[in-house]
Amino acid sequence: MTTSFEGKAGLVTGAGSGIGRATALLLAARGAKVVIADIADEPGLETVRLIETAGGTAAFQHTDITDEASVAALVDSVARRYGSLDFAHNNAAGGIAQHELADYDSDLNAWALKLYLEGPYFCLKHELRYMKEHGGGSIVNTASLAGLFPSPLTGPYTAAKHGIVGYTKSAALEYGRYGIRVNAVCPGVVRTGLTKDLPEAYIGPVTAGQVLKRLAEPEEIAEPVVFLLSDAASFMTGAIVPVDGGASTSTTSVE
Ligand SMILES: NC(=O)c1ccc[n+]([C@@H]2O[C@H](COP(=O)([O-])OP(=O)(O)OC[C@H]3O[C@@H](n4cnc5c(N)ncnc54)[C@H](O)[C@@H]3O)[C@@H](O)[C@H]2O)c1
Repeated sequence: MTTSFEGKAGLVTGAGSGIGRATALLLAARGAKVVIADIADEPGLETVRLIETAGGTAAFQHTDITDEASVAALVDSVARRYGSLDFAHNNAAGGIAQHELADYDSDLNAWALKLYLEGPYFCLKHELRYMKEHGGGSIVNTASLAGLFPSPLTGPYTAAKHGIVGYTKSAALEYGRYGIRVNAVCPGVVRTGLTKDLPEAYIGPVTAGQVLKRLAEPEEIAEPVVFLLSDAASFMTGAIVPVDGGASTSTTSVE
């Protein structure tokens, strides 16, 4: 059992920034060949440059996870470039405005469900099909603490992230027999592009309610993601792993 990825290849969505970039860098440092998937070209290419400068192997594939054809092309591109798809980290995201639930415009609600739930479903669908045909693999979905508890004023995000937890468990249940493990991480608040504009009025109470009382750095989420993707986690599937500075053990509620 090993955390080495020598001889393995896979993909990370949203790898142009934040948690995805940190995960891609760590995977490459452990020997993986990584396809960097992002809707934003320049940040994705910058992740490739960072990996190559450190001596690793990576390639960029422009991907919009809300477009199923784009996701299918992504999965194909990993196998075509590197000969296999051994792992996948489904992680891409965008920001969402904060409102009370009934004040969300219906189009915004639909957009959030498309990006945060249907997009990861497209990823899972094409990865599972490939891995089932090719002898297995390992998948990690980025859910959120909002996949376990309601996050205030982000109802569609909370609903979608609870859905990711459900997809993770369903996929684990159905695909273990094919040698495919599927797990999810639930980060607390992490210092990334997604959180840079959140008001202190939101972040303050969240960190105050944790045991560790601070934001996470993206690298602190990447480590458990890479562990779950690796053979060292060979008996873990269907696990929903909080990486939250102890927030989910706290009884402090956030208003
Ligand atoms: N930052 C946090 O506090 C936090 C907390 C819990 C969960 N998460 C989850 O972590 C994941 C990563 O978020 P992050 O904080 O690193 O954000 P980030 O904004 O730093 O990175 C997200 C990346 O996804 C890309 N992206 C956006 N839409 C896309 C699309 N349609 N197709 C492909 N790529 C797309 C962006 O271009 C960006 O590079 C998300 O799923 C998010 O919900 C983040």
